[in-house]
Amino acid sequence: MKDIREWDKFLIPYEQAVEELKIKFKTLRKGYDDLGEYSPIEFVVGRVKKVSSILAKSRLLGLDYDEISEKMEDIAGIRIMCQLLGDIYRVVELLRERDGKDFTILYEKDYIRDKKESGYRSYHLIIKYPVHCAAGYREVLAEIQIRTLAMNFWAIIEHSLNYKFKDQVPEPVQKRLQKAAASVWDLDLEMQALKEEIKSAQKLFKQNAMAVHSINSQLQLMSDIGESEMAAQFQSRMDAILDLSSSEPLEELHEQITDYLGEDPS
Ligand code: GTP
Ligand code: MG
Repeated sequence: MKDIREWDKFLIPYEQAVEELKIKFKTLRKGYDDLGEYSPIEFVVGRVKKVSSILAKSRLLGLDYDEISEKMEDIAGIRIMCQLLGDIYRVVELLRERDGKDFTILYEKDYIRDKKESGYRSYHLIIKYPVHCAAGYREVLAEIQIRTLAMNFWAIIEHSLNYKFKDQVPEPVQKRLQKAAASVWDLDLEMQALKEEIKSAQKLFKQNAMAVHSINSQLQLMSDIGESEMAAQFQSRMDAILDLSSSEPLEELHEQITDYLGEDPS
């Protein structure tokens, strides 16, 4: 049995891997935001398995301490949530593009096409991730789970019930959970059928938000260079734009202000 300081040391590369992977996928999401594009990634979370869970699982699998890093695949865990079913496969493609560059994909499990007995659905990838940490170069295993928001909702609740019933969930509760999983699946299919409407609505929202942001910066600049009156005029024109069902009115105003500033930068 190792002492806690040894465990802390053992977990350093895993902590670093989780932090780096979280940053990478969060930054990817931000890229879509900055472009005013629909993002296939909604949000990302990650965690390093607790020592107590590592010990419990290694006992269950009959692993010696030396075998843990080689055989336990989910000490580093990343979860990527998507809005739509189709986004999951887009994210899988994005990950495959990184295969051999950023990390190596060891294998994939599609629990969406083949749901688990419990009703669980998600797409899993096990990767080998290189980390350069204080102790030197390491390659650690990490599990990436990709799922929709609806699948995540179900999985979190099912997990807490398993916790409460110590993995002995009563039959009627299990049945209910399977029924709930079927409803989640219907919901995901319905949302996927609305994908074009959802994506264009969210894109419009992002574009309008970006235009408002740019206009506000321009108006601030105008005030700063002593053109407060003109800034106020443009401001009231912006306030008068009530039709946000298209990104045109705000973008047009943005262009006019750009032209104005270009002509008269004072
Ligand atoms: P583990 O010993 O749990 O790692 O199982 P495994 O090695 O056979 O891998 P599997 O792909 O089945 O599961 C890996 C992870 O997926 C789990 O640690 C959970 O996070 C998640 N998972 C798998 N099945 C279920 C399920 O029925 N319910 C929930 N809530 N999560 C699940
Ligand atoms: Mg596993």
